[in-house]
Amino acid sequence: MAMLFYRFALFLHIVGAFGLIAAVTLEAIGLRGLRHATQGDEARMWLGISRRLVSRLAPASLGVILLTGLLMTATAWGPQGWIAVALGSLVVLAVVGAFGTGMRMARLETAIEPAQGMLTDELRRRLRDPVLLTSLRVRLGIVVGVAFLMTVKPSLIPSLIVIAIAAAAGWLAGQVPQRRIQHELGNEVG
Ligand code: HEM
Repeated sequence: MAMLFYRFALFLHIVGAFGLIAAVTLEAIGLRGLRHATQGDEARMWLGISRRLVSRLAPASLGVILLTGLLMTATAWGPQGWIAVALGSLVVLAVVGAFGTGMRMARLETAIEPAQGMLTDELRRRLRDPVLLTSLRVRLGIVVGVAFLMTVKPSLIPSLIVIAIAAAAGWLAGQVPQRRIQHELGNEVG
C-alpha cells in the first residue's frame, strides 16, 4: 500500500514537472511574440499567453511538485543533498520569476492596455526588455539542472555545482539573442 502511495505521488510529481515545462514553453512563445509585436492588439494577445496562462500554470505546477516531492522525501528519502538543493532551486525559481518577469509583465500590461494601432518605439523597446529573456532562460536552465539532480541524485556540493552551472548556462543563452535583436531594433529605429 505504501509503495502504491509513493508511486502515485511520483506520478503526480512528474505531471507537475510536465506542467512546469509547459509553462516555461508558453512563456517562451509569448515572449517571442511580444518581442516582435508592432501593434497594440498583437502585443495584448502575446501578453495574454505569456502572462495570464503562465501565471496560473506555473504556480500550480510548482505547488504539485513541492507537495509530492515533500511527501516522497518524508516517506522514503529523509534529508539528502540533492533534495535540499532542489528545494532551494524552487525558491530561486520563484524569486527570479517574480522579480525578473512577473513584476515587469505587470508594468507592461498597464502600459499596453490603452495602446491602439502601431506601438511607439518606447513601448517596443520595453517589450524587448532583456531581463525578461534572461529570467526565462535562467529558470529553464535551473529546471533542467533540477531534473538532472532528480535522476542522478548527487550529494550536496556536486548538486550545488550542477545548479550553478545550469543557471550560468541559462544566463549565457539569454545574452546571445538579445544582442541580435537590440542590433535589429537599433537599425529600425535609428
Ligand atoms: C523543478 C523542480 C523539479 C522537477 C522538474 C522534478 C522532477 C523529477 C523527476 C523527473 C523525477 C523522477 C526521477 C526518477 O524517477 O528517477 C523526480 C523524482 C523525485 N523528486 Fe523531483 N523534481 C523537482 C523538484 C523536487 C523537489 C523540490 C523535491 C523535494 C522536496 C523533489 C523530490 C523528489 C523525490 C523524492 C523523487 C523520487 C526519486 C525516486 O523515487 O527515484 N523533487 N523529480
